[in-house]
Amino acid sequence: MPGFQKETLYTKEPVKTHTVTRTMIAVKIYSPQNWKYFCKILVIMVMIGFIVQFWKVSEPFRCQEQIYRNTSELWQEFLKNTMKARPIDKGSSFWDTSPFIDSCKPKNHIFFLKTHKTASSTVMNILFRFGDSRNLAFAFPFQSQFSYPSFFSSKFVKGFTEQSNKEFHIMCHHMRFQLSEVEKVMPNDTFYFTILRNPISQMESSFSYYRNTGAFQKAKSLDEFLKNTSMYYIISKGRSYYAKNSMAFDLGFDHNTHTSAKQLKLVCHMVESMFDLVLISDYFDESLVLLKNALCWSLDDILSIPLNSRSNTTKRSLSKDTQEKIKTWSQIDWHLYTYFNRSFWNQVEKYGRERMERDVEELRRKRNETAQACLQGEVDPKHIRDKSLAPYQSGIARILGYNLKPGLKEIDKRLCQRLVTPELQYSTLLHDKSKNAT
Ligand SMILES: *[C@@H]1O[C@H](CO)[C@@H](O)[C@H](O)[C@H]1NC(C)=O
Ligand SMILES: *[C@@H]1O[C@H](CO)[C@@H](O)[C@H](O)[C@H]1NC(C)=O
Ligand SMILES: *[C@@H]1O[C@H](CO)[C@@H](O)[C@H](O)[C@H]1NC(C)=O
Ligand SMILES: *[C@@H]1O[C@H](CO)[C@@H](O)[C@H](O)[C@H]1NC(C)=O
Ligand SMILES: *[C@@H]1O[C@H](CO)[C@@H](O)[C@H](O)[C@H]1NC(C)=O
Ligand SMILES: *[C@@H]1O[C@H](CO)[C@@H](O)[C@H](O)[C@H]1NC(C)=O
Repeated sequence: MPGFQKETLYTKEPVKTHTVTRTMIAVKIYSPQNWKYFCKILVIMVMIGFIVQFWKVSEPFRCQEQIYRNTSELWQEFLKNTMKARPIDKGSSFWDTSPFIDSCKPKNHIFFLKTHKTASSTVMNILFRFGDSRNLAFAFPFQSQFSYPSFFSSKFVKGFTEQSNKEFHIMCHHMRFQLSEVEKVMPNDTFYFTILRNPISQMESSFSYYRNTGAFQKAKSLDEFLKNTSMYYIISKGRSYYAKNSMAFDLGFDHNTHTSAKQLKLVCHMVESMFDLVLISDYFDESLVLLKNALCWSLDDILSIPLNSRSNTTKRSLSKDTQEKIKTWSQIDWHLYTYFNRSFWNQVEKYGRERMERDVEELRRKRNETAQACLQGEVDPKHIRDKSLAPYQSGIARILGYNLKPGLKEIDKRLCQRLVTPELQYSTLLHDKSKNAT
């Protein structure tokens, strides 16, 4: 094989050498003028080829939404980019279901991925009160959320820089999850958990709450919306993430691509490896008991009053047909839900069914007692006397709040107040407190 000089392709001189390849022999028939011209065209074409190739290859990087391109590749990248990711086959269960043992120390490095319309405000209140009473450091966003719907970045955390070694205990405001960034902020022994809800009731709730935004705006009802989604749903417009695979979106996945069975499985495995526990809103009290156990907390720590719940006058029942449509429309969410519902009940099984029943009973009894001691009951927003306890209202949902019993002792009053302080107000309180502390 004669030595082929790459440079000859680009030289301005006519080709003199005889050590040319077959392509170049074909080229020789052109005059020197044409040859130069041909070279230019060739160079341009090669460059265009490169750009096209690069465009294709770089697609997943250009568009952060594109989470998976090929399942095994995704998994490799995921393992590479995250320190927390553990092998799928974890062997032992990811939380300790053994009875309370002395070595069990209450965990206080906690990350909670707050998903939309899943009773997550109540969970957030639990975390707020836990951190408040122990003066733990919360990771606060600059606004009320971590720049949702952008992917989370450590830059969104107030007071965080990669150089500072400030210790954060709890992170729980709304975000679009990105583990590698959360890991920069939170300590390496952080407990990660999130909450999922049946996508059928989740979507019904979402429709009512986000009634006035984008995709839902023009549809008369959710049934109407699902009858012809192409009429209302535009991928790139109007907060489409509230209208399709909303939980998968919060978890950081693309909510719009068609997902194969294999990819759906991978999504579930990824979530399982990133989170230590996935709660199920539909079994809220059982969820709290598992959470208490996993965090080594006491029953009082998980005591809560439902927050941010809707008046049932704004709840709609959905036709069987619509329910079926939601399963395919929000296919990733549905898949996630059934997968984690199953693993949830496996965990309950390991915890012990009877033990669970006892604990849930005890929790409900305590909640009743507390509610009776503290509250006059759940009321329509316009009947809330103390405006600092009035929850944010949105869409056509009527978000209920509480009135405290009059004449509470000061110490009880404080506890009762915290129990029913809506998230925006409570977040502000905690933020002010952290500023005063430093
Ligand atoms: C996925 O991508 C990797 C690396 O690019 C490749 O080795 C593998 O064969 C691909 N798998 C499939 C199923 O396409
Ligand atoms: C976790 O962080 C602590 C303190 O920052 C450090 O001492 C420890 O080596 C880390 N552990 C791992 C497994 O990275
Ligand atoms: C759904 O909406 C699209 C776009 O407006 C329209 O072209 C189509 O005919 C509608 N389909 C049905 C079944 O109504
Ligand atoms: C809705 O709430 C009212 C009063 O709070 C109650 O009487 C009624 O039974 C509730 N309806 C449903 C369907 O839960
Ligand atoms: C969730 O799990 C429970 C208990 O196994 C089961 O009764 C229920 O049907 C499951 N829900 C869904 C939607 O799969
Ligand atoms: C809590 O109170 C409600 C009504 O206020 C009652 O239906 C329920 O049985 C009570 N639960 C427990 C565990 O006492």
